[in-house]
Parts: sequence; structure tokens; C-alpha cells
Amino acid sequence: MMRRPFIAANWKMNKTTSETQDFLSGFITAVKDVTDVDIVIAPPFTSLSIAAEKLKGTGIILAAQDVFCEEKGAYTGEVSPVMLVDIGCNYVIIGHSERRQYFHETDETVNKKIKAAKKVGLKIIFCIGESLEEREAGKTFDVLQRQIDKGLYETDTEDIVIAYEPIWAIGTGKTATPEQAQEAHAYIRERQKILYGNKGNEIRILYGGSVTPENIDSLMACKDVDGALVGGASLKVDSFVRIVKFKKG
Ligand code: PGA
Repeated sequence: MMRRPFIAANWKMNKTTSETQDFLSGFITAVKDVTDVDIVIAPPFTSLSIAAEKLKGTGIILAAQDVFCEEKGAYTGEVSPVMLVDIGCNYVIIGHSERRQYFHETDETVNKKIKAAKKVGLKIIFCIGESLEEREAGKTFDVLQRQIDKGLYETDTEDIVIAYEPIWAIGTGKTATPEQAQEAHAYIRERQKILYGNKGNEIRILYGGSVTPENIDSLMACKDVDGALVGGASLKVDSFVRIVKFKKG
């Protein structure tokens, strides 16, 4: 099964509009020759418009970092799925651990957001992953299974990319080893096959958590690692270009 590599930048709460423009000017030129990887940029909401403008015609995909589950109405501060489509987003990240941790998102709200995004044709980067405490208690697979089953409740895997992001690896410099990543990814794929049959083989599973130019090649060499969701190392052009141009094993 050939799954097209998918490398996504999650800028989190970083970069003003002019910083976004500067980054993209350099980045677009540097990855011009890359034709065999889906490249995704998820800037903050305030930079989506300028990024959409810059990315036009480049083949680089625009994503938002979150979305609300209602179509419109009195929800001060929130952004609806149709607004993201309108501004030029193809993808949206849903269920990132920072949203779950700091903004109290639950498996149920994640599920609502996934359904709302799918309704308007947005594709989804669906994030799951265990905490250090859960890993040490031997609960990793239980947590992944719960997040998958509840997050995807009454929906399907069409247009969904799963990002496995162990919380203990995010922003800590403590990357999962290729063995740890492969073990979790294989589990996630098995679960997908149980739920969706053969389609489980088609779904792309990204690794996220302290991905760098130094460790991307060994992570991408794992059988079930189909890409990466990159935070810190996606903020500098050189470093993210090297990650996009990972070396195939
Ligand atoms: P990191 O973040 O690469 O800075 O660890 C990854 C993420 O949270 O998506």
C-alpha cells in the first residue's frame, strides 16, 4: 500500500502576518521541486488570509489549527467550518492535545468538530496521544482506542489523517523512538482496520512530538509512519524544508 507522505507545519500561536509572508516567500521557492509529498501549513487564524494568497497555485495546502462545531450564531470568538472553507483552507487540525489540555476539549467536542468540518468538505488532521502518566501506567493503547472510537463516533475515515502525538514528546525535545512510534502507529492502523476494514490501510498516520531535521528520516522509515505534524521545527524555513525533504530509507 503506497500512502502519499504528508508533512504538516503546526505553527501554534506564532507568526504575525508579515512573519508569515517572509516565511512563505523563502519556503515556497525552496520546496518547488518537491512533487511527491503533501505539504501543509497551519498558521494562526489571523494569518490564514495572507497565507492563502501566497500559496495560490503552489500546491501547498492550507490548514487551520482549530474550528468550532456550529455553523454560525452567537459564539463570541469562535470560527465556523464554512468560514475556513471561505478563506481557502483545505484541512483543519482537530483535537490537538493543547486544545484538550488548556481549553478543556473532550472526545465528545472533538467528535462534534470532526462532523461539522466534514459537512462542509473540510479535511481533518485528527490528533490523539497519551500522556506520560498514561504511558507509564501501561494505558497507551486503551487511551488511543478511546480517543479513536469516541472521536470518530458515527463518522468515517474519509478525508481524515490521524496524527499520533504522545503528549510527553510535544515541545519537550523528547521524541518517541522509531520503535515507540511504529508500535503506536501499528496499533492505530489495526484499530482502523477493525472499524473500517480495508480502508484502514489507506489512512495516513502522522507522527508528532519534537520532530526535527535530525530525526525525521528514521521516523519516516517506519512502516506505518506516513508523515509528520511539526511544531517548533516548522517555524524556521531551513529546518522545515529539510523535514519536507526527508530522505527515504
Ligand atoms: P513540537 O509540536 O514539534 O513542537 O513538539 C508538535 C505538535 O504539537 O503538533
